[in-house]
Amino acid sequence: MIGQQMTLRRVQKTYGAVWAVRETDLEIGKGEFVSIVGPSGSGKTTLLTMIAGFETPTAGSIMVGGQDVTMLAPNRRNIGMVFQKYALFPHMTVRQNIEFPLRMRRLAKGRGLAERVDAMLDLVQLGALQHRYPHQLSGGQQQRVAVARALVFDPPVILMDEPLGALDKKLREAMQFEIKRLQERIGATVIYVTHDQEEALTMSDRVAVMHKGRLEQIGTPNNLYANPDNAFVADFVGSVNFIPGTVCGTDHLHVAIKVGNALVQVRTPQGRQAYRYEEGAAVRVAARPEHIAIAPYRDRDALSLSGTIETMVFAGASRTALVRLHEVPELVLRADVPSSISSLPDRGSNVALSFSVDALRIFDAEGTA
Ligand SMILES: Nc1ncnc2c1ncn2[C@@H]1O[C@H](COP(=O)(O)OP(=O)(O)OP(=O)(O)O)[C@@H](O)[C@H]1O
Ligand SMILES: [Mg+2]
Repeated sequence: MIGQQMTLRRVQKTYGAVWAVRETDLEIGKGEFVSIVGPSGSGKTTLLTMIAGFETPTAGSIMVGGQDVTMLAPNRRNIGMVFQKYALFPHMTVRQNIEFPLRMRRLAKGRGLAERVDAMLDLVQLGALQHRYPHQLSGGQQQRVAVARALVFDPPVILMDEPLGALDKKLREAMQFEIKRLQERIGATVIYVTHDQEEALTMSDRVAVMHKGRLEQIGTPNNLYANPDNAFVADFVGSVNFIPGTVCGTDHLHVAIKVGNALVQVRTPQGRQAYRYEEGAAVRVAARPEHIAIAPYRDRDALSLSGTIETMVFAGASRTALVRLHEVPELVLRADVPSSISSLPDRGSNVALSFSVDALRIFDAEGTA
C-alpha cells in the first residue's frame, strides 16, 4: 500500500457568521508527513474533518489520490482518522474497536485478523486491557485505542487530531516513534494536528501554521524556523524576541534600524517580503535567543545594544539569560548563553548584546500588520 496525494483547492468552511476555515489551498505529496499547528480555535480540526468527510466544505474541492472526494461519505474514503475526542464505540471492547475497520472493510478474517489486531495491541501497549470497554479506560488509554483503530487497516491516508495529547512524556515519545515507523512502513500520507510544536518539528516533513482559520505558512521545519513569513509564525514556531525600532536607512543589502538611540542591522528581506522598508517606518526586529550573543559591556560597538542581566535560567547544558534592554527599558530579551562560555556574567551586570545579522528578521510593528 502506498500513500496518496492530496489537494485542497480554495476550501473554506463557515458556521453561520464564524469563519472556521478561510479559503485554503494545500498540496500534500504521496507519503508525506505534514503537521498542522496553531492556537485553539484556528480551524485545525475543521480542516481535518472536511478531509475525512465528516464536514462538508462551504466551498472548494478536496482531491485524494486523484479522485474528487468533496461530497463522498467518510466510509467511502480510505482514510484512517484519530479524532480529537477519540470517538470510540462505547459498546465494543478495546479489541472489538480495533477489529472494526478490518471487519467493515472485509480486509481480514480468522487468524489473519487476530494477528493484525494483536500487533496493534502490542504497538499501543494495551494487550492486557483488550477486553475492557472504553468507559473502563483512562483518557490516555482511550486515546491509544483510537490510534490503533486508525492504523490497523494500513490506510493510505491517516489523519490524526492531537493523537497523543493525553499521554505522559515518555509514552508520548515512544508512540511518536511507533507512528513514524508505521507510517514509513505503509508509506502513508499523514496529516497530524498537534499543540506540541516540538512534536511537529521533529516528526514532520512539513509543518503548516494556522491562525484564525487561515493557513499562514507551510514549510519544512527548518524553513519555517529560519524564514517565517510573518511575526505570528515567527512567534508560534520556536522562541523569539521582538525588538521595536524605526527604519533609518536601507540599501539592497541591509536595513538599518534605530532602537532607542542605538542601531541594529538586518539583512534586507528577500522573496515574499522583498518590499522596501521606508525610512521612518515602525518595525519589529525578530531575534531568536540563539542569535543574540552576550559580551562584556566594554566590548560593545556601533551595532550592539546593551542591557542588564536580570536572571540566568539553567536548563541542563544550556543557559538562557534574561536581559533588560537599556535602549527599550520595558523589554526583557531572552538570549542563549553557550555552555562553552567560561565566565558567566553575574546577575545585575551590564552587558553588550550583538546579533547574527543574517539570522535576524524584520516585521511590521505590532498592530500595523
Ligand atoms: N459545529 C460548529 N458550529 C459553530 N462553530 C464551530 C463549529 N465547529 C467549530 N466551530 C468554530 O470554528 C472555529 C475553528 O474550530 P476548530 O475546532 O477547527 O479549531 P481547532 O484549531 O481544532 O482548535 P483546538 O486546538 O481547540 O482543537 C472555532 O472558532 C470554533 O468555535
Ligand atoms: Mg481541534
